[in-house]
Amino acid sequence: MNPEIIALMGSPVPDGNTGKLLEQAIKGAEDAGCRVVKVDVTQLKFSPCMEYFFCEKNETCMIKDDFTPFIERFKSIDGLIIATPVMTMGIPGALKSFMDRFQVYFMAKYVRHASFITKEQKKWRKTLLISIGGMDIENDFDGVILSTKAFCQITDCPYWDGVFQNNMDKISDITTKPEIMDAAYKKSYEMCSLIKKDMEASGQNE
Ligand SMILES: Cc1cc2nc3c(=O)[nH]c(=O)nc-3n(C[C@H](O)[C@H](O)[C@H](O)COP(=O)(O)O)c2cc1C
Repeated sequence: MNPEIIALMGSPVPDGNTGKLLEQAIKGAEDAGCRVVKVDVTQLKFSPCMEYFFCEKNETCMIKDDFTPFIERFKSIDGLIIATPVMTMGIPGALKSFMDRFQVYFMAKYVRHASFITKEQKKWRKTLLISIGGMDIENDFDGVILSTKAFCQITDCPYWDGVFQNNMDKISDITTKPEIMDAAYKKSYEMCSLIKKDMEASGQNE
């Protein structure tokens, strides 16, 4: 079976600039031989984490909603692509709430010391982050990167690399930045090729 990648779309604008970069990355992943499932997080109906702490002792979440299937799905994926605009210096609410619901993984890994992800899977799982921001300021992506890296550790899908473009208020159309469009394709292609290679080295995917 070809490696499976989930592509998380954090922007509410399907064909906006984040969407265009994500399409490039999906193409790169598919060209590298991966199956990609795109998830429009803003279209899902789910609650934020309510801190019921049910997951402290259980392998699932008390809240049943559109997020629920992702608890299982994330156990078997081989890589992640996360595409998001910067909002209020961080990850926009829907995507951030989606990430917070992986407290189920946090409790398994850090409290019960029984990560859902096997040692074998950790050899190949990787995450690519793609992010754009409107402002022309330093540190525009610090919040997004910090949260993403924490999420990647919690889900045992290590942060691999990122593609970033700030100053979008001025640039307006990301296709006028072919080097960034190319970077989204190439980094995704490269990451997905590495995932395949690492899986093969572990005797998977033959
Ligand atoms: C609610 C909101 C908050 C935003 N906050 C920031 C911010 O803190 N820093 C920044 O650089 N851009 C910020 N932006 C601008 C977006 O990152 C920018 O417009 C981006 O290009 C949107 O991409 P999209 O159209 O693909 O969703 C914000 C936009 C919105 C709608």
